[in-house]
Amino acid sequence: MEAARFSVEAPATSSPRGPVTVPTLVRAPAVPGAHRIEVRAMRDSDIPAVLALVRPISEAAFLEWEDAPLLRRHLATNGPFTFVAECGGALVGAIIAGSVGVRGTISHVATAPAYRRRGVASALVCQTIAGFRAYGLRRIFLFTQDRNGPARRFWARCGFAETSAESTWETDL
Ligand SMILES: CC(C)(COP(=O)(O)OP(=O)(O)OC[C@H]1O[C@@H](n2cnc3c(N)ncnc32)[C@H](O)[C@@H]1OP(=O)(O)O)[C@@H](O)C(=O)NCCC(=O)NCCS
Repeated sequence: MEAARFSVEAPATSSPRGPVTVPTLVRAPAVPGAHRIEVRAMRDSDIPAVLALVRPISEAAFLEWEDAPLLRRHLATNGPFTFVAECGGALVGAIIAGSVGVRGTISHVATAPAYRRRGVASALVCQTIAGFRAYGLRRIFLFTQDRNGPARRFWARCGFAETSAESTWETDL
């Protein structure tokens, strides 16, 4: 199996850029006069732009499963954990997460290539973690591809640790 599993134990989590305090504004872009990057809750009207952002990404698995009806249903039940990042009206990042039983899971986080390494994904993760905390969840899990080095470094930097002595079991529906 290619997927590796990471988990984080709340409340030890902290952002690489400070405590998890639900930031609404991320680091401003380096270009003078450029728009700032803002994180806000994902809305139904964002779905086409979210799909346009995530569908071409080859590094992460199962993105091809994201479609508009599935995302709409997901937002209806998991809105407090699912966010987008915007810059000048353009959608530049998204996080799709939800609660599973008594745990939280992050299905996907993605930043548009031109906006990477500016703290966008970190801010999205902080928002989702704050949502999980407010909901009462205390443990999060997620999966990465073994070959996705940037994602593995990103999650490690966010304070997640790869699990050991556990197997992932799955089946298709
Ligand atoms: C992984 C991904 C979400 C990171 O998004 P991002 O907005 O660039 O992340 P951040 O700017 O918040 O990065 C925070 C820290 O993570 C680490 N990091 C992020 N991308 C990295 C990379 N390509 N190489 C090494 N470290 C990286 C760094 O420590 C970074 O801090 P720094 O820039 O101060 O060094 C982005 O590369 C992406 O969208 N990849 C494709 C989709 C994907 O693989 N998603 C994850 C699997 S679900």
